[in-house]
Amino acid sequence: MKFKIGNSGIVKVITLFDGNDICGISEELKKYVKENKLFNGKRGEIFSNLGPNSENVILLGLGKEDEISLENIRRAFLSLGKHLKANNVKSCNIEVKKFDGICYKLTAQAIIEGIINVTYAFDNFLKEKKDKFECEVFFDVLEDKKEIVENGIKEIEAIMEAVFMCRDLVNRPANDIYPETLAKFAKEELEKVGVEVEVLEKKQIESLKMDAFLSVAQGSDLPPKFIIMKHLPNKDEKPIVLVGKGLTYDSGGYAIKPATGMVTMKTDMGGSASVISTMYAVGKMKVQRNVIALVASCENMINGHAYRNGDIISSMKGSTIEVINTDAEGRLTLADAIYYGASKLNPECIIDVATLTGACIQALGSRVIGAVSNSDEVFAKIKESADFMGEYLWRFPVYEEHKESVKGKVGDLLNVTAPGTGGAITAGVFLEHFVENTPWVHLDIAGPSYSSSAWGTNPEGASGTPVKTLYNFVKKYNKK
Ligand code: BES
Ligand code: MG
Ligand code: ZN
Repeated sequence: MKFKIGNSGIVKVITLFDGNDICGISEELKKYVKENKLFNGKRGEIFSNLGPNSENVILLGLGKEDEISLENIRRAFLSLGKHLKANNVKSCNIEVKKFDGICYKLTAQAIIEGIINVTYAFDNFLKEKKDKFECEVFFDVLEDKKEIVENGIKEIEAIMEAVFMCRDLVNRPANDIYPETLAKFAKEELEKVGVEVEVLEKKQIESLKMDAFLSVAQGSDLPPKFIIMKHLPNKDEKPIVLVGKGLTYDSGGYAIKPATGMVTMKTDMGGSASVISTMYAVGKMKVQRNVIALVASCENMINGHAYRNGDIISSMKGSTIEVINTDAEGRLTLADAIYYGASKLNPECIIDVATLTGACIQALGSRVIGAVSNSDEVFAKIKESADFMGEYLWRFPVYEEHKESVKGKVGDLLNVTAPGTGGAITAGVFLEHFVENTPWVHLDIAGPSYSSSAWGTNPEGASGTPVKTLYNFVKKYNKK
């Protein structure tokens, strides 16, 4: 799919609000549409007249005018994308209008975000690949807005490439993406865009004393990898540190999951996929902000070396942890990755992203990212980015009792708190212990990272959440 500036294109796309008078088509066709009530302008609604001896137009509804927003534009244009694909339209022309409170560049970007989603398919493992949909989309824009829209196109293409990269990584099964291949992928793809990648091997992880991470990893025959990705365009600027949960498979360990819950646990590296992909977009767009991403990648498996329910383990920080449940493994790997960032990288802030708890899905539903934070300021920035990019995010409260509940009796911390204590919150509180007072936001993406059905502009399977939010957050961090 190609997006260009210009006024060519075989099919003309006309956007209309709910209740608008139809324009841009012949009087005869207009009469026909009206008489038969074929188009009202509801969001995503389409009337088209395509093919030989036709007017080659598509009417696209945008919904109510006073409800226009970037997300409504994305969703309306996803519907257009589906229609273009179903009718194999080879080229089309879209007039970029000035909507109330939204600039041309953002409108063009939202349009692309919506349409381009129809080109995503996860067919790596199918013998017969899905048909590629090729279409040239021309944007008709005012002369003095051409350059800004052109730059906007380049940027959103990089972001969506990163979103698709994230989806692919999450959709790929655990016999394909495991710590070694995840690290290799990060190195190969990120070095192409100028991000420096270092992969620490088991021996190096041992010398760092990442005991919590190693305890989870020791039940697998596959060695763990600690992936460090650096994008440092500025001198003397503290980096934003992104940490992604990188469990390439979560069987639950000795607290084994039932088969039904285990089958999707190839997706337990969704956090790492999102930070790797964000680094790709940040590198490609040469965003002027220092960022370092960290991933402690391993599998949670069962063998004779696996850690047990009841073990007391240590951590890089030196705090000891009672392993109440081997299935609460993510926070153990994150504890060491976060502490590495906090103690060695002098971070401006830390954002961790993890498919961490089923409790988060219980609390907020499967479409919403749950956040825990120690910083109103950094949280506000993340929230603003999520709202702007159309990703759902809500912050949990943290009270004294939540903090009390993660304290252990024979170890310093518990990896699972008692029933009824708020599992999504206490998982975050556990992580906070390792941030060393750095401004920090924890994003639990257990719900929105992967879904058995399509929603919003996301396909079924992996969504690419929260790549768009993270990119926007990094880009805007210094502004304001
Ligand atoms: N990876 C899971 C969380 C998860 C659940 C992600 C559903 C995506 C969808 C995590 O490691 C886990 O197993 N959490 C346990 C924690 C419990 C033992 C306290 C859970 O949520 O059940
Ligand atoms: Mg688990
Ligand atoms: Zn897990």
